[in-house]
Amino acid sequence: PRSGKFITFEGGEGTGKTTQIARLADYLRAEGHDVITTREPGGAAGADSIRSLLVSGATDKWDPLSECLLLFAARREHLNKTIWPAITQGAWVLCDRFADSTFAYQGYGHNVPIPFIEQLYDAVVGDFAPDLTLMLDIDVEVGLGRANTRNADNASREDRFERMDLSFHERLRQGFLEIARNAPERCAVIDADHDPDIVSDIIRAMVNTRLLAA
Ligand code: TMP
Repeated sequence: PRSGKFITFEGGEGTGKTTQIARLADYLRAEGHDVITTREPGGAAGADSIRSLLVSGATDKWDPLSECLLLFAARREHLNKTIWPAITQGAWVLCDRFADSTFAYQGYGHNVPIPFIEQLYDAVVGDFAPDLTLMLDIDVEVGLGRANTRNADNASREDRFERMDLSFHERLRQGFLEIARNAPERCAVIDADHDPDIVSDIIRAMVNTRLLAA
């Protein structure tokens, strides 16, 4: 039986997921919950190795189908080593991206057939799914502008996807919105083009209504 909760944060580049995950973690800990924060690709040793293959280098370095396989290999490690053990022990797991990112980036963005990604999901993840997915939505150019500022500050080289063209980012934004429309009981779209304090108030209210009051 599952006792913990699994909350995923999704969205394009520069939506402020990292800040919002840290704030929700603080809030839930103050409420007395055990919380871990993690991210994809990554969150386990093998998955972090795969991450470094994916997030740097030439934009056309991987065939999109290979990219899906790498992402689901990383996801399997993450589930087995980190997510499932934590949830079994009763923790709340807050995760920066999960499978919706593969549907959006590789499916909607790179035209990998959605049924192929669904098959991978069934084989790798099974009937497990997030209890709540917060889709942080922002205008693509505003988001990419924020992401570029962040990269300039960090000298980050993890910008392989950010360097993909604007139409790619528009497709994946529409993809996330469509995923949310098709799964309203799991997903909530949050307008991320607000002050971070306002966004965290909205997220807190959403978690209270959907998970804590239930
Ligand atoms: P991050 O910048 O949010 O840490 O994510 C790393 C990059 O990996 C981001 O540009 C989106 C991309 N990505 C995919 O393309 N598909 C996926 O399934 C995941 C989890 C991430």
